[in-house]
Amino acid sequence: MDQNSDIIILGIESSCDDTGAAVLVNGELLSNVTYTQDVHKAWGGVVPELASRAHEARIIPVVDAAIKNAKITKQSISAVAFTRGPGLPGSLMVGVSFAKSLALALNRPLIEVHHMQAHILAHFIRTPGVEYTPPEFPFICLTVSGGHTQIVKVHAADRFEVLGETIDDAAGEAFDKTAKILGLPYPGGPLVDKHAQEGDPHAFRFARPSLKGYDYSFSGFKTSVLYALQKWQKEDPDFIPKHLDDLCASIQFTITEILMDKLALVLKEHKVKDIALAGGVSANSEVRRRFAELAAAQGCRAHIPPFAYCTDNAAMIAASGHFKYLAGDFSSQNVMAMARMEM
Ligand code: KG4
Ligand code: ZN
Repeated sequence: MDQNSDIIILGIESSCDDTGAAVLVNGELLSNVTYTQDVHKAWGGVVPELASRAHEARIIPVVDAAIKNAKITKQSISAVAFTRGPGLPGSLMVGVSFAKSLALALNRPLIEVHHMQAHILAHFIRTPGVEYTPPEFPFICLTVSGGHTQIVKVHAADRFEVLGETIDDAAGEAFDKTAKILGLPYPGGPLVDKHAQEGDPHAFRFARPSLKGYDYSFSGFKTSVLYALQKWQKEDPDFIPKHLDDLCASIQFTITEILMDKLALVLKEHKVKDIALAGGVSANSEVRRRFAELAAAQGCRAHIPPFAYCTDNAAMIAASGHFKYLAGDFSSQNVMAMARMEM
């Protein structure tokens, strides 16, 4: 490849507990390395101080591996894209400082990326030899992660309209917190999904929010799971192990129903050809199934990214960086991490 005329974007992700680096050449993904920190497992959730320390320890080997796997040289990089926010301040700071130093050393432009926009733009990641048609603008994206739950109308790669979002817990938190009540380790979402495969989704009924409009709320649901389990465990201390699969299936069913009900409401009023799913919770089997069903019922095309691009990754940061590179949208060396960031 002629590395002088190629657009080579190095993407760096460090917003939470995954350290990621990826290389995108002319819009095609050549490498994507993710180091998932397991230090948090013992604590039942992400410990910010441990997360930033783990990012510091891993960022250099992760970036080196991404460059090596892509078979490029550091000098051939056209720009360094990084997650500016939202996320954990200490975690973000590691990626931001690293990206700034590298861009300065290489004398290349810096590109800041909004983590939630990147989850959506993960739909535009192209991998060599894989046929794939990305969603057409405007499309509606349901972004469901551990920190956020949003329904976004995506007008263009740089124009995002938030139609609805959670007023309390995110969908991923609803999975993780109810899993914790069941005694499952962090992150509980994937384990709830696993146990749910063997359970009856209608075995138990939990509260659903009665919120009007497009916003979500999961706190009432979470409390209803907690109170119901406290009551059932009083009657039978082995209630959870005896009914774990049914509990997981019912929890998963309810969270999915809450997600899909609002999305269906949005789709009634916003007619689009394409709908997309993004964020860690889009790895959930029931969410994927119901999303595809809803799309078919509405006559829309459903876009569900491969698993590796659902959870936090740097490929989505590099893909977002590519759009911004083409638009000449660069950041200055004074850019700072932002824990909270508007779409
Ligand atoms: O997008 P992500 O990797 O990180 C954030 O930006 O938050 O999402 C992580 C979330 C966690 O809450 C995790 O439990 C959830 O995604 N998750 C799942 C599944 N896989 C990941 N939730 C339910 N079912 C799954 N299969
Ligand atoms: Zn994320």
